[in-house]
Amino acid sequence: MTGIDYQNHRAQLLNDMEVGDLAVIPAGDLVTRNNDVHYRFRQDSDFRHLTGFCEPGSLAVLAKEESGKDRFLLFVPPKDPAREIWDGPRAGVEGALAQFGADEAFELSAIDEQLPKLLENRQRVLYPLGAPIGERIERWRLQLGARVRMGIQAPGHYLDLRGILHEHRLRKNEGEMQVMRRAAQISAEAHRKAMVEGRPGSSENHLEGVIESYFRSEGAERIAYGSIVATGANGCVLHYINNNSRIEDGDMLLIDAGAEVEGYAADITTTWPANGRFGEAQRRIYEAVLDVQQDLVRRVRAGSSFQALNNEAVRQLTAAMQGLGLLDEKASVDDLIESEAYKTYYMHSIGHWLGRDVHDVGSYGPQRNRTFEPGMVLTIEPGIYIPPGDETAPPSLRGLAVRIEDDVLVTEDAPENLTADLPRTAEDIEAFMAQARA
Ligand code: GLY
Ligand code: MN
Ligand code: MN
Repeated sequence: MTGIDYQNHRAQLLNDMEVGDLAVIPAGDLVTRNNDVHYRFRQDSDFRHLTGFCEPGSLAVLAKEESGKDRFLLFVPPKDPAREIWDGPRAGVEGALAQFGADEAFELSAIDEQLPKLLENRQRVLYPLGAPIGERIERWRLQLGARVRMGIQAPGHYLDLRGILHEHRLRKNEGEMQVMRRAAQISAEAHRKAMVEGRPGSSENHLEGVIESYFRSEGAERIAYGSIVATGANGCVLHYINNNSRIEDGDMLLIDAGAEVEGYAADITTTWPANGRFGEAQRRIYEAVLDVQQDLVRRVRAGSSFQALNNEAVRQLTAAMQGLGLLDEKASVDDLIESEAYKTYYMHSIGHWLGRDVHDVGSYGPQRNRTFEPGMVLTIEPGIYIPPGDETAPPSLRGLAVRIEDDVLVTEDAPENLTADLPRTAEDIEAFMAQARA
């Protein structure tokens, strides 16, 4: 059973609403893939956060009432035995009440009748501004406006629900942390399995299968994002998606893959030699990135920020690039930072919030200077990528790509690395592969 406390998530939102407010939260819809085939349904992250309800097309409403008795309403697809033979069971109105904690539940067909009543005489409505539900809210508002002479008021203020809700999603509670630990653990084990199987002569597609089949066999719902399984210079393509090359002797693999468990993502990158031994140049670049990555993981503390960490990453990576012969060793680090010379080889940022969405919601603050607080989870993922055609780079480094990515929970004290269960030093990787492949 889930450790996710949806009732608590609703209480958090209601706590930030004013008496009289109404929040309208639409579910996701099925999306056509081709002809009459749909993509496998994934519930909208906000809707799931507040309801745990995973049927498409639904609608949730939270009403903060003067009486102090707040209301949670669910509008759900109706029970339909003929349809359920094809698509599987639906909770229906009864299930919405009994299993999902709704105070009131209705079939979807009741929305246009119930929502105008719910909107009557309210001051403020919270909903995801810009979402298609806005058109329906506008229609209901006009219906109410036509009854103004009868003393009925339509709401005058429309606020973006996300601004409030995403602050809650950013800070994980204990139940969410447990699920994220599980997602991280399954994902780390999948990377270890790939390290065992990723020999020269194997393929990116085989490793993609190894990883994603392990996710599913452990109960993960799906991949948290498209897996990147890149051998050799394919690792220089930051969002590589083809995953269909043969693995050659002497290649390094760069794999960025994470599972989604109960709606929460993990996001891990590992880099390792296919033949089990780092070449000399590979080892130098790997260790340079690892030194930076491990130092930055230790710096994930309350009060720090992405801005501070990225500045530190740029400083350390620039110095490392000088040591590797990628940037002018005689130039000052400050000058190289000023001219953004490092961007040839490190062109993304140090990380992002992680949660229900792999690039999770929540404000980053101006220039990403928002300070970290306990309960926030983020990635630390420095890398160095040397394009194969870069004639200014030492020949032995051309086409090498290293990224190392962990998921880190901010605590009151030392950071908790959720993905620590991986061999990370070059020695540990070689020893793990030698032993696991023996
Ligand atoms: N896997 C996407 C990222 O690392 O941001
Ligand atoms: Mn990431
Ligand atoms: Mn990643």
